[in-house]
Amino acid sequence: KHRIIIDCDPGHDDAVAILMAAGHPDIELLGITTVRGNQSLEKTTRNALNVCQYLGIDVPVYKGMSVPMVIEPRPVEERVHGDSGLDGPVFDELTKTIEDKHAINYLIDTLMASDGDITLVPTGPLTNVAMAMRIEPRIIPKINQIVLMGGCYQLGNVTPSAEFNIWADGEAAHIVFSSGVKVTMMGLDITRKVLCYPSVIERMSKHDNRAGKLFCDLMTFFNKGQKKTFGWEGGPLHDPTTVAYLIDPSIVTVKNMHTDIEINSEQSYGRTNCDYFLLTDDVKNTDVAIDIDVEKFWDLVEECIKYYD
Ligand code: BDR
Ligand code: CA
Repeated sequence: KHRIIIDCDPGHDDAVAILMAAGHPDIELLGITTVRGNQSLEKTTRNALNVCQYLGIDVPVYKGMSVPMVIEPRPVEERVHGDSGLDGPVFDELTKTIEDKHAINYLIDTLMASDGDITLVPTGPLTNVAMAMRIEPRIIPKINQIVLMGGCYQLGNVTPSAEFNIWADGEAAHIVFSSGVKVTMMGLDITRKVLCYPSVIERMSKHDNRAGKLFCDLMTFFNKGQKKTFGWEGGPLHDPTTVAYLIDPSIVTVKNMHTDIEINSEQSYGRTNCDYFLLTDDVKNTDVAIDIDVEKFWDLVEECIKYYD
């Protein structure tokens, strides 16, 4: 059983990652930490609470960083995630509350008290994780592994070279990738293969439970924005690939290679420079996802939805 903390910026696909992790018996979701990314920190935190309350997920939520480590905050992604950061579903009045502790203190305290068996699953900018590593470097050897959504070895989605989560806080990503912790990177190269076509929504809508309803409400809105922005009929379900990989590693093919984060260039800021062809002798610090079994992925999403019956 994987003991995990999801560090996220919900976000439609972040919400589905939470849904899957909380539902699947092979995952023990210890806590959720939030960060600025798709939307402001206030909104991503509210969204995380709403998702938990709606699905009856009894997991503590901790609020983290409202700004990146060095750069100015990037504009929020309203085109894709809407004004709330999670437009589409209608939630009841929010009664679930955040924990008093700051997310960074939660990460540090929990990791320090652990046996080194906790996996971090970041699905937003890496500000919280990097800050925690800088404030208390002794957590670094305590982290079992990091399985994150971010980056790409091919084409970016916010600039020609960069993916949003890494570009939103490149310095934080640099700290995490060079920390020595085993990082597995679910980048756009594979997340662009799991496109949530209307046929997928139709399939999941057959499950008459809260998870099925939430999935369909989320994805129906998400696809509209994706169509306007990128022109495709089904949006990529980026963040849930992390949870899918943990539950069943055979779903994703990874290749071990060196990865460096570009933080000095203006044009290519936030690029994940992945040494795919092993051209250098630099330490192979990352398992980079290079392929995904699309059919198995959707089967697993459906399995997770069924756990809410
Ligand atoms: C990433 O950016 C966000 O919009 C998504 O939630 C995902 O984490 C994809 O680039
Ligand atoms: Ca995200």
